[in-house]
Amino acid sequence: MKGIILAGGSGTRLIPLTRVISKSLLPVYDKPMFYYPLSILMEAGIKDIMIISSSSDLPRFIDVLGDGSQLGISLQYEVEPSPIGIAGAFLIGETFIGQDNVALILGDNVFGHNLGPLLKKAVSRSHGATVFGFPVDDPERFGVVSFNDAGQVNSIEEKPAEPKSNYAVTGLYFYDNRVVDIAKKIKPSARGELEITDVNKAYLEMGALHVELMGKECPWFDTGTPGSLLEAAVYVRQFEEEKGVKIGCVEELSFKKGFVSRDQLITLANSQTKSGYGKYLLRVANTKE
Ligand code: G1P
Repeated sequence: MKGIILAGGSGTRLIPLTRVISKSLLPVYDKPMFYYPLSILMEAGIKDIMIISSSSDLPRFIDVLGDGSQLGISLQYEVEPSPIGIAGAFLIGETFIGQDNVALILGDNVFGHNLGPLLKKAVSRSHGATVFGFPVDDPERFGVVSFNDAGQVNSIEEKPAEPKSNYAVTGLYFYDNRVVDIAKKIKPSARGELEITDVNKAYLEMGALHVELMGKECPWFDTGTPGSLLEAAVYVRQFEEEKGVKIGCVEELSFKKGFVSRDQLITLANSQTKSGYGKYLLRVANTKE
């Protein structure tokens, strides 16, 4: 399975922060925002990953993690010429995806801990699409999925004025290879974007849309506004201080997943020992399981 991180868009709701730097490079407590979505793909076992961003921001992403070999993964980069909408990622990534299934995650989505079991379910489905629903107070800001009395999905709508449920569709999507053809067929919406919700609708119409529901035990933040950005950072800090383990720590994950050896992790740690982050990596490397 291939993975795509879409770190595009213009981040208009975060201006002036996003005048300085791409939203996905902004800090969420102790690491750049895009470490979190990258860690989710890695946790799902995906090692072949493309990062899509604007031509001005892409060099910064490359500076941070390069070709990914130090993490035992392969990172490729592609320019999004202009913000064309989330589903546009499958057009930009068509050659990269090839004949494989693909997971897409938005560069500004921060998931808490505990997603592992749901990720396993999504990865194990070779057919259809899997999206993740999370209960929110302001569903009108998101894609919204609703269910019938039997618990089956009966609608998925983008930013509905009158939401039929309070389940937001998070920015993490798993698709079979048909997604490329589906993305080619959809038309831009009223806001001029190729909507991911239209792709999900196509899967719903084919009876192939699976929804995994997340609860409080697995928090989610879209960091789309200054408030939710701060909320995510506060959550990460609290969790990391209370539990003594990090969220979104890609170096630790690559070690735990067996993508790199203990010695390689020590090398990664040694390049950043001045920060608590590097010290944490050393501790992980020196802890016997
Ligand atoms: C996008 C999607 C929406 C989804 C959200 C998750 O919204 O269009 O369906 O719920 O990401 O972060 P946007 O960021 O474009 O407002």
